[in-house]
Amino acid sequence: MKKILVTGAFGLVGSDLVPALQKKYGKANVFALGNKTIPKGFDGQLVKGDVRDISSLSKIIKKHHITEVYHLAGLLSVGGEKNPDIAWDVNMNGLRNVLELARDYKLRVFWPSSIAAFGPTTPKKMTPQHTVLEPTTIYGVTKVAGELLCQYYFTRWGVDVRSLRYPGLIGYKAPPGDGTTEYSVHIFYGLLRENKYACFLKADARLPMMYIDDAIRGTLALMAAPAKKITVRTAYNFAAINFTPKELVTEIKKLYPTFVGTYEPNPVKQRIAESWPQSIDDTVARRDWGWKPAFELPKMTEVMIKGLKKKLSI
Ligand code: SER
Repeated sequence: MKKILVTGAFGLVGSDLVPALQKKYGKANVFALGNKTIPKGFDGQLVKGDVRDISSLSKIIKKHHITEVYHLAGLLSVGGEKNPDIAWDVNMNGLRNVLELARDYKLRVFWPSSIAAFGPTTPKKMTPQHTVLEPTTIYGVTKVAGELLCQYYFTRWGVDVRSLRYPGLIGYKAPPGDGTTEYSVHIFYGLLRENKYACFLKADARLPMMYIDDAIRGTLALMAAPAKKITVRTAYNFAAINFTPKELVTEIKKLYPTFVGTYEPNPVKQRIAESWPQSIDDTVARRDWGWKPAFELPKMTEVMIKGLKKKLSI
């Protein structure tokens, strides 16, 4: 039986991935590693530790006979710019610790890369799988270095580590994190609480995005694929939809015509957004392990509003 450890278990991805893993493998077999933000009433196996501390991770892995790690703990783009030293420490040393332990204990690993691995010199439209990787954020630097480290542990030691370049992820279970694409989560809180939202990006800042259910389904599919199908050991391009803040506002207004969306671009966040692609070519993921997204913009908008209303008891 698989025994799974999820680091960063209560972040944007973990908040949806942990319940999905619990459903698939049983609550007794999924261990959620939390550091600071552990939600009240979490129903599952909780373990405490810091991914920067290899001995605490090693103890958890041995004690619970872990076979698979979803290593999600990390700082995002905006958070990373506020604190580059911590971003480097958590994102790089955390990943290296997990890969070291994966080699020693023969663990399969999932680690998220991001569209932040790309930079201003990358082709912006239908960005190919193999292309220029010259990011300008510390977050992006840790993603490129992390991708190469994953590939190195695979080729040098045969560690079965798999990765996806997540686009901006949109979900309602976790509070929005410190990312550039996260305006697309904040906007729904603005809608339901005040019927307005001032976006921190320009109206035309097109970015690749994905509803969280698609991201979770793709992540589980990648991890379930036979190892011989995995031809990319850095990170797969992974795409669903792309839209601008203005297009999202227009979509919301179809359901809430009085909603007011305005634009107050933050220079740091806008610069980050402009350094990233607008759309992604995920042909290789589709070919290798059958990736296919299910959520378009209208469906994502409806589901977000419904889910968040329930969560906020509105
Ligand atoms: N959502 C992330 C961010 O904006 C992208 O990986 O930082």
